[in-house]
Amino acid sequence: GVVAVCGIEPKTPDEPLSAAAESTISSLIEQTAIAIDRSMLVGESVKAAALEENEKLRTILLSALSHDLRTPLTSITGAVTSLRELGEKLPPEDRKDLLLSIEEEAGRLSRFIANMLDMSRIESGAVAPRSDLVDVAEVIRNVLERAKRTFPGKDTSISIAPDLPPIRGDANLLGQVLFNLIDNAHKYGGPAGAIIHARREGGDVLITVSDEGPGVKAADLERIFEKFYRSGRVDGRKAGTGLGLSICRGLVKAMGGAITAQSPAVRRRGTRIIMRFPVASRPKQEAAA
Ligand SMILES: Nc1ncnc2c1ncn2[C@@H]1O[C@H](COP(=O)(O)OP(=O)(O)OP(=O)(O)O)[C@@H](O)[C@H]1O
Ligand SMILES: [Mg+2]
Repeated sequence: GVVAVCGIEPKTPDEPLSAAAESTISSLIEQTAIAIDRSMLVGESVKAAALEENEKLRTILLSALSHDLRTPLTSITGAVTSLRELGEKLPPEDRKDLLLSIEEEAGRLSRFIANMLDMSRIESGAVAPRSDLVDVAEVIRNVLERAKRTFPGKDTSISIAPDLPPIRGDANLLGQVLFNLIDNAHKYGGPAGAIIHARREGGDVLITVSDEGPGVKAADLERIFEKFYRSGRVDGRKAGTGLGLSICRGLVKAMGGAITAQSPAVRRRGTRIIMRFPVASRPKQEAAA
């Protein structure tokens, strides 16, 4: 179709254009047409490249998704079949094991689905985090309670500097990030448990989650934040989905903060995940949410 129309307003409308003027104008128009053509072509090939990238990502996502959904489903179906067919005849210990594996695998599935949803919300830009005044100490104390309930056998502790200033962000999202980090500390860290520190450093509030596990190799300190990056658990059990930390980074960035990993962290062992958020500049009239 028509892309552009060019009009000319001559100084002397009654006289015809001179041959020289006409040829100058038409060559100008031609050049312009070529430039427009070119830029449209470039635009289209950029779009095509982006679509291709998207397509690649979608393929990776789909294969990871189907793999990660299928594995736990197979375990659940297998366990349910055994219980239904042999339930009465099985020793109580085996029945307990089967029920436990159903519970664990169902938990994995639901975490995975929650992670996928978070991921797509971050990527579509639909997570527009709130910009409330957040009382970091209160968020940490709430997360601690949740962690104690979720990981009953594990030791989770906190150490919060007094008069910690508020940050701007979303208390729920910050809680979600911290919970993911505690989950990792317990999954990959040693039996020493997880400790959360919070203090002010210059114009930032620093929040760290540390463990005394085997740590992360120097070469992997950035990679662990990549989507789907994961390595096996020390105890040989299945690792998670590899999405937790990439979601954490997405959420922290969306709230104006930064998140990095440090290892070794404690006594030449362990991992420390460090988050920095700028101290909330000037409290507006809204209450801390
Ligand atoms: N505290 C830690 N100590 C040692 N390794 C860690 C620690 N936290 C994360 N990792 C490594 O980084 C990888 C990525 O972590 P991430 O939280 O993104 O995924 P995940 O825990 O495997 O799965 P998900 O959190 O989605 O259930 C983990 O598989 C693990 O290898
Ligand atoms: Mg994790």
